[in-house]
Amino acid sequence: MCGIIGYIGEKKVIPILINGLKRLEYRGYDSSGIGYLMKKKVIVNKAAGKISNLEKLISDYDEDTFIGIGHTRWSTHGAPTNENAHPHFDGGARIALVHNGIVENYRTLKTKLKDLGYQFTSETDSEVIVHLISYFYEKEKSLVEAVRLALHEIEGTYGICVVSSLEQDKIIAARKGSPLIVGIGENEHFVASDAPAILEYTNNVVFLEDGDVAEIYKDHFNLKSLANQQIKREVEVLDLDISTIEKGGFPHFMLKEIFEQPESIQNSIRGRIVLSAGNVKLGGLEHVLDDLINSKRLILTACGTSWHAALVGEYMLEQYAEIPVEVEYASEFRYRNPILNRNDIVVAISQSGETADTLAAIRESKKRNATVLGVCNVVGSSIARESQAGVYIHAGPEIGVASTKAFTSQLAVLALLTVLIGRRKNLSFGYGEKICQELLNLPKKISQILQKQNEIEELAQQFYQAPNFLYLGRGYNFPVALEGALKLKEISYIHAEGYPAAEMKHGPIALVDENMPIVFIATKDSTYEKILSNIEEVKARKGKVIAIASEDDNSIDSIVDHVIKVPNTLEMLSPILTIIPLQLLAYHIAVKKGLNVDQPRNLAKSVTVE
Ligand code: AGP
Repeated sequence: MCGIIGYIGEKKVIPILINGLKRLEYRGYDSSGIGYLMKKKVIVNKAAGKISNLEKLISDYDEDTFIGIGHTRWSTHGAPTNENAHPHFDGGARIALVHNGIVENYRTLKTKLKDLGYQFTSETDSEVIVHLISYFYEKEKSLVEAVRLALHEIEGTYGICVVSSLEQDKIIAARKGSPLIVGIGENEHFVASDAPAILEYTNNVVFLEDGDVAEIYKDHFNLKSLANQQIKREVEVLDLDISTIEKGGFPHFMLKEIFEQPESIQNSIRGRIVLSAGNVKLGGLEHVLDDLINSKRLILTACGTSWHAALVGEYMLEQYAEIPVEVEYASEFRYRNPILNRNDIVVAISQSGETADTLAAIRESKKRNATVLGVCNVVGSSIARESQAGVYIHAGPEIGVASTKAFTSQLAVLALLTVLIGRRKNLSFGYGEKICQELLNLPKKISQILQKQNEIEELAQQFYQAPNFLYLGRGYNFPVALEGALKLKEISYIHAEGYPAAEMKHGPIALVDENMPIVFIATKDSTYEKILSNIEEVKARKGKVIAIASEDDNSIDSIVDHVIKVPNTLEMLSPILTIIPLQLLAYHIAVKKGLNVDQPRNLAKSVTVE
């Protein structure tokens, strides 16, 4: 996934491009570049590595230049080198293009273009697009027409911006499968992959849809379809402010987002709980409520952390909404020829709303006549727009690549969904009220856990050099074991595995010795006694046990080596609390290892490629 920024207006463009790229760096940071019009030429600066490398190349920020595009890259084709960085030029350096997405037929196109004499300077798939534009420009002598015709040749996904010395008063932008928004200012326009890049300049945006081609001037813009039909899109006002994407005094976005969880949980449930009725209301699902109540099966599909949230959702929905649930890795679901019936409901869970595998899974589901719902964080994201209904989790922008507050907000929304369906089945008023009340209590309980940060940091100090970790849990907290392990491995690069605790005796216990730290989620719930037995099994083999336990559990301290206590809550909501210490443990271990917590190697915030 890459980040794109574009500007046309009356401000100096270079600072806007650089600033925008820095706000998009979480989308990919292998290399970056900018292309801008100056003295009737297109100038391109680009560099491998961090944006700071690009800044060193730029001689004068104060250049009289007002139109430009920028790109920060997460490599899909071609190593992260200067040559492969975007923008890409056509042969005559008259057209510059930045691209987010994958050109699936690039090899065929590259061969054809080479046969026509076009020279390539990179290994990327993206470069074929700018040469195609150049090819069509020779015929059409219109930049927007050349872009439109070039995109007809592309199989795959794209979000692109184009500037050219051939037509120096516009930017062309287009999208199919990769997000792009147009920001509307006073005598200026912006283009960006995501709102954080332009939020400090404008909240007024138009979300481009797949197939849109935008011809953007500083004082107006035209929208056309790939079929050359005029299009009108509504201007939307983003209710986000710039502070939400700043670090707010925290050393890393990830820590800020961990500490935002009392507030993000409040925002996820705000206005959705009707305590007096022991019920909830989810406006985005009202028109599909009957389908939900009558559906024979829910299929939750997601990737990564969101898939872990889906696993917790499965326990909630089956226990309290009495609806059969299947949880599917989106990447597997989309290719395994799933049997879907008309009364199946597919629920896509995705923080970014742009994960390619999850987007493909819902498209496949819609082809098979299933109803598709989206549980997303990013408003206007592709998955949200392509779902027939859905619920935003309102966790606020999540910039750290490792997902934290989005996970707990996903769980809160899945709990709301459970009550919504359950109360129209056999979930009693009393228990519905109990769940709702406990959801309202969670922010305070999360704050109590966050106050234990120093305790957890000390734990990190003891274990940050461990080569491996095991995370074990049962029932609702088995997915927490998976999520805790994922948090550790993705930011500290320590190998960690999550397992159902009972599964240890079927093989993994062979791994246990005095060098293996084992984290047990051992809160007082329906599986507590069993977990204690598993802890004993591990202790008998000299394993070092760290337990996440209930605050009123006074016996576990003598059994384990280290314990972090969390407040009691309903078993179905316990993952929202038990994950917090594991987020902090992973964070502090990674910091002690001196690693880049917000932008771990090889990762991107949203994986918009397969
Ligand atoms: C989680 O920490 C990871 N960044 C990753 O597994 C992520 O959850 C996954 O890529 C799914 O992203 P999504 O929720 O935006 O679809």
